[in-house]
Amino acid sequence: MRFLVINGPNLNMLGVREPEIYGDRTYRDLQAFVRTSAAEAGVGVRLFQSNHEGAIVDEIQCAYGEYDAIVINPAAYTHTSVAILDALKAVGIPAAEVHLSDISQREPFRRISYAGMACLKTFAGLGFDGYREAILFLKQYLTDRGAT
Ligand code: DQA
Repeated sequence: MRFLVINGPNLNMLGVREPEIYGDRTYRDLQAFVRTSAAEAGVGVRLFQSNHEGAIVDEIQCAYGEYDAIVINPAAYTHTSVAILDALKAVGIPAAEVHLSDISQREPFRRISYAGMACLKTFAGLGFDGYREAILFLKQYLTDRGAT
């Protein structure tokens, strides 16, 4: 199984940005965490981060026929991007949404997730662990459907 893990804008600033919300570990730490989680789950992984909505849409489109599952933290685009929602729907690849923070307990504008409407499940408020949970969830989902 091959998984694509997408991180949206400002997640490259982890460790610097609002550590009281996002913690003091860096994006490099997150990359290592995701790679370890994927290896432990026995799935291949590609990591992609961009601050640009169109680049994320391009990456989702390119995943068609190449990846079995998508883990996505669209960051701020979660709450604004119909384009990312439409791209996820277009490729139809099983997807899970991750947020480091619990977006349901923050400002009202963070309560809507467009991307989440195309995802099988959301993992929010678990920090880095949300990515591991999403990988394990999608692996189980695919296994139950007979993927190898
Ligand atoms: C986030 C939550 C979003 O509301 C925010 O814009 C982010 C990060 C999270 O991981 O908690 O950039 O997706």
